[in-house]
Amino acid sequence: MTTAPEILGTLHNLKTVAVAELDAVKDADGIEAWRIAYLGRKEGRITMIMKGMAALDSDSKRTVGAMANDVKALLESQLEARIEEMKSAQFTHASQEGRLDVTLPGRRPALGRLHPITQTLREITNAFGTMGFQIVEGPEVETDHYNFEMLNIPKDHPARDMFDTLWLDHTNADGEQDMLLRTHTSPMQARVMENTKPPVRVVVPGRVYRYEATDATHEWHFAQVEGLAVDEGITFANLKGTLYEFARLVFGPERRVRFRCDFFPFVEPGVDMSIDCFNCDGAGNVKGSDDMCRICRGSGWIEIMGAGMVHPRVLEMSNIDPSVYTGFAFGVGVERIAMLKHGIDDIRYFYGNDARFLRQF
Ligand code: DAH
Repeated sequence: MTTAPEILGTLHNLKTVAVAELDAVKDADGIEAWRIAYLGRKEGRITMIMKGMAALDSDSKRTVGAMANDVKALLESQLEARIEEMKSAQFTHASQEGRLDVTLPGRRPALGRLHPITQTLREITNAFGTMGFQIVEGPEVETDHYNFEMLNIPKDHPARDMFDTLWLDHTNADGEQDMLLRTHTSPMQARVMENTKPPVRVVVPGRVYRYEATDATHEWHFAQVEGLAVDEGITFANLKGTLYEFARLVFGPERRVRFRCDFFPFVEPGVDMSIDCFNCDGAGNVKGSDDMCRICRGSGWIEIMGAGMVHPRVLEMSNIDPSVYTGFAFGVGVERIAMLKHGIDDIRYFYGNDARFLRQF
């Protein structure tokens, strides 16, 4: 049987030996082996000593127990310190060999940014957002029904020629192609009206597709923002006021606007809206010279969108009573707005994926 003084002696020796051994340890494996040998919960030296105390009287148990705990705490803290020491030694070692120079400036992470068209799209929808318009989105694969029929563009009507259409290989029961990549965002007018009781105030940002040869001002896919307001008593004055405010929010408070008659099958009357040229202030020529302004090509005006009062037949088809409700609609090409704002002369830059171009915005 072991006596209390014997155990105290063992603990004392153990402390000295363990600390010396720990100092001599060279790697992580050594550390782990040392930890198991001394502090291991099942058969570590400290545990074994504590187990051996069972036979002692309670006074001795108290003294021996207190010392055992002290030694254990000491070894634990020494272990932690040694681990830290080894870590920092490794670090110094590596940096001395030149593998890690902590004084080198960090590498700047490559920051992404929004595509200029996304930025312009948001600017446009935000402008209408401030006027109480809600933002909704619709499908890019549309049906003939919504893209044309519901917008008062029946089959075989010449108005279909306004759109160069990309049809899908999909036919209806009569063997006619009935699905397409939407040619404009206008189909959302009908989709919204079918599902919303007036008052309606929405803008619809989105991508549209045309079977079109590309050149400096035409892409076969581009972005539009559609707008629709339907309520009792909406007049052409509301249309003008809203679009005027939009032009000033996006192009500056001093802009003037012009409306001219235009034809779109889903509005009556239909208009195109222009702003006075911000490059030459509507003069048509470069200030102080006879050179023609290249933004407005000498006219002093820039067309920016189509608009009009929603055609009564369009309201009717979407189950809205045209004798009670009226509305206005508009559609704006986003690339065109971005080109005007940034002085870009070729629409193809936007989708050429040349980072040198895109980085500028
Ligand atoms: N959807 C027409 C297009 O893509 C643009 C347009 C014109 C939309 C007049 C409208 C509108 O809502 O009223 O050419």
